[in-house]
Formats: sequence, C-alpha cells, structure tokens
Amino acid sequence: MTSTLADYRTLGRSGLKVSPLCLGTMTFGTDWGWGADDATSRALFRRYVEAGGNFVDTADLYVGGKSEEMLGRFMAEDGVRDRLVVATKYSYNAEPGNPNAGGNGRKNLLRALEGSLRRLRTDYVDLLWLHSWDVHTPPDEVLRTFDTVVRSGRVRYVGLSDVPAWYMTRLQTLAEASHLERIIALQPEYSLVERTVEREHLPAAASLGIGVTPWSPLASGFLSGKYVRGAVTAGRLETVKGSGNPVFEKFSDRNWGILDVVREVAAEAGSTPARVSLAWLRDRPGVTSILIGATRPEQLSENLAALSLSLTDEQRTRLDTVSALPQAHPYALFGPTMQAMLTGGVTVRGFDGR
Ligand SMILES: NC(=O)c1ccc[n+]([C@@H]2O[C@H](COP(=O)([O-])OP(=O)(O)OC[C@H]3O[C@@H](n4cnc5c(N)ncnc54)[C@H](OP(=O)(O)O)[C@@H]3O)[C@@H](O)[C@H]2O)c1
Repeated sequence: MTSTLADYRTLGRSGLKVSPLCLGTMTFGTDWGWGADDATSRALFRRYVEAGGNFVDTADLYVGGKSEEMLGRFMAEDGVRDRLVVATKYSYNAEPGNPNAGGNGRKNLLRALEGSLRRLRTDYVDLLWLHSWDVHTPPDEVLRTFDTVVRSGRVRYVGLSDVPAWYMTRLQTLAEASHLERIIALQPEYSLVERTVEREHLPAAASLGIGVTPWSPLASGFLSGKYVRGAVTAGRLETVKGSGNPVFEKFSDRNWGILDVVREVAAEAGSTPARVSLAWLRDRPGVTSILIGATRPEQLSENLAALSLSLTDEQRTRLDTVSALPQAHPYALFGPTMQAMLTGGVTVRGFDGR
C-alpha cells in the first residue's frame, strides 16, 4: 500500500507517532571511509525533514560520535528538534581496556546517555535503543535502568536492536509483570536477503506490542542493484570487503539470485531495484518504519520515492518465493499440513488472521 512520510503510525503499543521511513544517520561523517561529508549530510537531513519526515536514528557508536554531533547541530540550526523523534543507541565500548565503558549495564547506559545528550544538543532523547546484547547483563538491570531514565525525563521511550528473540520476550514479560517501562520497538536487520527475524522476532514482537523498524533495508546498498556479479563497483560493500563483519557479506549466490528477481520486477513496474526492495519491506506484516540510509541526496530521493510504489500480489509472491527462508526445525511443523494433524483436518482461523 502506498503512503507518504506524513502517514504517521504509532510505534508499537505507545503514543509515539513516526513516519513510515526513518532517516538513518550512520552515514553522517566520513571517518569510517564510506559516509557523507558535513555538507552532504546536512543536505540529506534537510531533504528528509522538508519532505515531511519526523523520525531520525543515530547511535553513540556511529563515526565515533560524529553522527550524533552533526545531527545535533543540524537540528539546532534548523530549530526542528522538538518536532522530530530522535532515536539513539548505547552498548558499544567507548574506551578500549575499560569493560564498563561498554555493554548493557547501568554504569555504561548512564555514561553513554550523558554523552549522547551532549552531542545531540538536547536534554532528552525520544527513543533510547539497547544497541547490541552483551550476553552478561541481567535483563532486570537493563529494565530498571530504562525505567529510571524514562522517569527522569531524559528518555521518552525505550527499544531493543540486535538481541535474541528470547531475550526481548523475557524483558517485555518482566516489564509487564513488574510494571516497569515497556519496550516499544525492535530494530533488527531485515531485508529481502536477510529474513531470519521472521522466524522468532517478528511473531514475538507482534504478540508483545513491539513495533519493528528494520535496518539495512537495502543490505548496505546491495539491493539498490548497482553491484554486478564479478565486477568492481564503487560503494560501501566494495570499500568494506574483507572486513570480517558478517553484515557486509552480501555477495553470495543466493543473494545474486534474489537480486535477479528484484531487477525483473523493477523492469516490469518501470521502477528501480531500490524502490522495489523497500516497497516489499514496507508491506511486510509488523513493519512500522524502515531505517533508510544514503550517502548522496539523489539516493535519498530515490529511496523516499519507494513509498509511492505499489507492488502487485503476483510480484510480491515472486519476491517472497525467491527470498524464502529454508525450512528449519521446529517451524516446519507449524505449516498447514502438520497443523491439520492437530485440528483433526478441520480448518481453523484464529482471531489474529492466522
Ligand atoms: N542497529 C544496528 O545494528 C544497525 C546496523 C546498521 C544500520 N543501522 C541503522 O539503519 C540505517 C540504515 O542502514 P544502512 O545505511 O545500512 O541502509 P541500507 O539502505 O541497507 O544501505 C544504505 C547505503 O546503500 C547505498 N545506497 C542507498 N540507497 C541507494 C540507492 N538508491 N542507489 C545506490 N546506492 C544506494 C549507500 O551506500 P554507498 O553509496 O556507500 O554505496 C547507502 O549509504 C543506518 O543509518 C542506521 O541508522 C542500525
């Protein structure tokens, strides 16, 4: 279904209203070797806000704090801070050798938040994400600290990014049972070439009142269609090739096969691979807002245009099929054939449409 940036929707079970596309600012700054310079980042920010967008995402990690600094300056210069929903993240370490300057614990959360507020030139963030699970910190410590920062007014809402589904479920259930601040959103990697979260995270989020905001919707640019098998193309994935970060390993046979179908659909629809990939994701159940990234204003305009592309059912089915996850246990048992053994062959429709 087509929409515009002003078609606001509530983020999870909350009163926070966000645009269907969020401006990701991981590309604000060039120190990582693949971002945008100050003037270009400024143009990206302005174009998004002028187009009606109200949701911006950053992290203390991004470009060593430069992303937050730029975003803070741009918001202050344009006097738009209060009309925007500003999201930032904590977890990654800021001081080599000091384990308490990273992770999910109370000491690091409070340290990181102070730094983010300073760099963003604001006295509150609308959404604070736990960036990545640290394996060690007990869930109740995270929840109590979330609760404290929300009650203090420095944070409006809290969310989780790269975490196991069981951990998200444990946190939310504890929050409900203990009357602590609830999680309103999940930020996972999710795109046509990375659908693993459909197994556990998405059903869990739907049942827990948690909205989903996918990151790397174009698989770091792979799904824009600019990369060609066997050729060298300028772009992030080329720059970071061999870095060892699994997020950037996108040149697999399976992914090239998916891209072939994306290209086919784009040609048929008189559109582009980037728009088709974003439109497919926009229509996935549970997705509230997609975090888009760009290093150039033309890329941003191209990606914003995805909101007005409508895919046919047949095109969506073709994309679903080529990118489907392989069968795995126990999920293979929950399809119609095996369920018939539970219902005695009778067709049952649940209140939630399943
Ligand atoms: N929570 C997490 O762990 C996590 C991780 C990653 C990202 N994020 C968030 O998600 C946001 C978006 O992620 P992402 O930047 O990886 O998104 P993405 O859309 O998958 O990749 C964006 C990159 O792809 C290329 N690109 C985008 N549109 C294009 C187009 N139309 N034509 C050609 N190339 C295009 C550009 O890179 P080049 O020009 O350099 O090729 C651009 O910087 C980030 O800013 C951040 O806020 C979160």
